[in-house]
Amino acid sequence: MCGIIGCVSEKDCCGILYDGLKRLEYRGYDSAGMAVLGETLAVFKKKGGVDSLAAFYAPGNTGIGHTRWATHGAPSDENAHPHRAGKIALVHNGIVENHAALRRELEGAGERFASETDSEVLAKRIARAYRGDLLSAVRDGLSRAEGSYAVAVIAEDRPGELVAARRKSPLVAGKGQSGAFVCSDIPALAGMAEYIARAEDGEFVRISSGEIEFFDASLRPVPKTFFRAPQAETWLFAAGGDRMRAEIAEIPRALSDTLGALRQTDLAPCARALRTAKRLFAVACGTAYHAALAFAYAVERDAHIPVYCLSSGEFRCRPPLIAAGEVLVAVSQSGETADTLAAARLAKERGAYVIAVTNVGGSSLTAAADFCLVMRAGAEIAVAATKSYNCQLLCLNYLAAQLVFFKETALPPWYDALGDLPAAAQAAFSAFADVDRLAGALTGARAMFFLGRGQDEPTAKEGALKVKEISRVFAEGMPAGELKHGPLALVEGGFPAVCLSTQASLAAKSENTLAEVRARGGYCALFTQQQKWLKESCADVRCRLPALPEPLMPVVAVIPLQYLAYKMCLARGLDPDKPKNLAKSVTVE
Ligand code: M6R
Repeated sequence: MCGIIGCVSEKDCCGILYDGLKRLEYRGYDSAGMAVLGETLAVFKKKGGVDSLAAFYAPGNTGIGHTRWATHGAPSDENAHPHRAGKIALVHNGIVENHAALRRELEGAGERFASETDSEVLAKRIARAYRGDLLSAVRDGLSRAEGSYAVAVIAEDRPGELVAARRKSPLVAGKGQSGAFVCSDIPALAGMAEYIARAEDGEFVRISSGEIEFFDASLRPVPKTFFRAPQAETWLFAAGGDRMRAEIAEIPRALSDTLGALRQTDLAPCARALRTAKRLFAVACGTAYHAALAFAYAVERDAHIPVYCLSSGEFRCRPPLIAAGEVLVAVSQSGETADTLAAARLAKERGAYVIAVTNVGGSSLTAAADFCLVMRAGAEIAVAATKSYNCQLLCLNYLAAQLVFFKETALPPWYDALGDLPAAAQAAFSAFADVDRLAGALTGARAMFFLGRGQDEPTAKEGALKVKEISRVFAEGMPAGELKHGPLALVEGGFPAVCLSTQASLAAKSENTLAEVRARGGYCALFTQQQKWLKESCADVRCRLPALPEPLMPVVAVIPLQYLAYKMCLARGLDPDKPKNLAKSVTVE
């Protein structure tokens, strides 16, 4: 949802801004821009990805940059950031919810707008408040903005100074030998910042005279502890090739690292909350929501307590059942998803105990939670989540096992097989040759179903999401039993259905589902670890999954589906890392 960067560097900052924006491009890529302040303030902005800035150069060591995911106003040169107003240039990530009222007021006062964005309102208000004190002007200019923002602002008569502020959108500051920086996310500072600190909601950051200072809403200094930045190589990304394919290849390593981290994590602090819980709540969005659905299934099966699993955005739209002493599990790869953060904060307000499962230690979600399980998937840059899903499932299975232990003083029988997951994930890659053939057969498909019962339902939903997201083929994932209650009406000659079957007790039902599709001329693919459970003739294509104790099968069963979506995407000539209309991190509600 837009990436921002700003710096005051030792040397010209154009290259620094460009490199940082390339690493923030996962947050949006429909237009990009930079403002560089040397003897003059030069602004360059363009529709298209960050590459469109490669030709731009202006001398100067103070600058800001932006990569956009459009909310207000179509992707265009005019709507791209930075926005210029008077002496000010501004970049913004977030949504100014009362922008229309503020715009009307400014127009009434004679201002003319150059873009359709909500962000330009902030630039105008800060410019009108600016009288040589940039920090106060930013505070005053933002004072009536409702909604969310992370902004970075420079003024043409203040070279060497930059002011940033945040409310509900992420903002990180960093310092290193080459200068001082602010940005939306740590990877943007790879190799540049040695120490980093996060700004909290309502805080302001000023870089001047090479120093970084934090201020509260009343502009009183806030002492901050800077932490050592992650090793640059953790965040530096392979040039060329697609990230999604690389990230699928990293799944065995990600699972192994995550397992190592889990074994070092002391769950004692959440033991009491889990032991006494009579029910749980789980919230997440998108792929993480499917991981939460799988968690609900595991907890109900092994710990015998209900889990209310909701898409985070819905959590606040329903009667608030969660109460003091209850437990909410919030799952988010990025730890910055606005709806999931809001759900976690609401649960906290109501006195609940919040457990976060995230890939980003130090993210906003970790700050909002009482206890965190931080997975070690490593940086996930491709918009389509892959390795983070496998690691979320691992963490959530681990949490479910500990819950069983806290309640019944015995771990579930599959617990020891968690150590087999990295090898099983590797073994799942051997299904890729079958998937290549399947993807070939689906070249002309315009829509498809993913079907699964029991623990396979979340996997079916996740397979469908991947296909929709990057192949741009309509796909619906559903409980297989739902097929005959409506969706079957769409099945005709060649209509594809992918069926997951990883539970022996449900195999006969899977066979019936496949028969219903094939009887109407549908084209069936079956993913299972036990070929003998189902008749050889029940599907057109069969893909073999590696064998594991049944409860752990979802962690690896999804891998060939992730790869299927990737292959369908390539077959359609699309870029798997930049799906249309999407961005990696959804920091707006
Ligand atoms: O960072 P989060 O896990 O909170 O992100 C949630 C969703 O936005 C995310 O999983 C999204 O659905 C992915 N692009 C799916 O591949």
